[in-house]
Amino acid sequence: MNLTELNRIATAMVVSGKGILAADESSGTIKKRFDAIGVESTEENRRDYREMLFRAKDAMSQYISGVILYDETIWQDAKDGTPLVRLIEQSGAIPGIKVDEGTQALPMCPGETVTVGLDRLAERLKKYYERGARFAKWRAVIDIGNGIPSMTAISVNAHALARYAALCQAAQIVPIVEPEVLMDGDHDIDRCYEVTQRVLNKTFQELRVQRVALEGMVLKPNMAISGKKCPKQASVEEVAEKTIRLLKACVPAAVPGIAFLSGGQSDEEATAHLNAMHKLGPLPWGLTFSYGRALQAAPQKAWSGRPENVAAGQRAFSHRARMNGLASKGEWQSSLEQKAA
Ligand code: 13P
Repeated sequence: MNLTELNRIATAMVVSGKGILAADESSGTIKKRFDAIGVESTEENRRDYREMLFRAKDAMSQYISGVILYDETIWQDAKDGTPLVRLIEQSGAIPGIKVDEGTQALPMCPGETVTVGLDRLAERLKKYYERGARFAKWRAVIDIGNGIPSMTAISVNAHALARYAALCQAAQIVPIVEPEVLMDGDHDIDRCYEVTQRVLNKTFQELRVQRVALEGMVLKPNMAISGKKCPKQASVEEVAEKTIRLLKACVPAAVPGIAFLSGGQSDEEATAHLNAMHKLGPLPWGLTFSYGRALQAAPQKAWSGRPENVAAGQRAFSHRARMNGLASKGEWQSSLEQKAA
């Protein structure tokens, strides 16, 4: 393992002004997104859609540091035969790959899951590296509800995340460690804070036990935020203040960077929250976005599967990428959104 090189990549992924495009929706998830815009989820449509994003020059070269791909996409070529991975590299962004194989029900723990995919991971990482991937992602899912999460779910998921991270580093790939505490419930922000704290503490404990080099990884956490169905929604300032307090308490400064998931926040909320956190600096790590929905909802709608809408889709993507790029420096203002609209 070359830790200097891993650290260089991890640092580039979270460089100020840029963030990560999470375009790694599994076939099931992208079908849901396409259903919403009336597009059939064929291999060709998925390719065309993602090619549109990766060819959005302004967005990709100025605001996107890396792109997380799904297995199908990393092997796909653009219409003109150029591998999609090359398009990403040519824009100056770093290609990455989602390597977990989703969740399975966790025995003895009703309603809880464990993320799987470790069995042949070492071989798969080798092939992904040869194809150009320089970082990877593994997502653990923790739900908040009546009596959950259990210590069992937190523990097995943290263990798997650390196993994955160690395998990545051995393969010279930077692991994005993503323990996602879902925002689906009716819990308040303090319950989210408390659960996320337990999850992060356990995750870093496992990372240490399994000898993962913190300098060569990126953390992808949820924010401390109210559950979507909670009647009392925390303000932007409260989310920013509590998230930074939480991360400072749990994430060692040796970690080069933190890149948030959007998790179901609206586009503008996700941007506003990141921006507000940068008003609370200086921060010990790079702090940016690794958004899926909050970067892609607008371009998906603008595109709607029609070739004549490609330019509009790229404009919508560039706008969200720029807004989040500014937020990653604390330079975003809501008036910039209105101007564009
Ligand atoms: P969202 O930003 O849509 O939550 O997706 C990010 C991601 O990669 C979740 O694993």
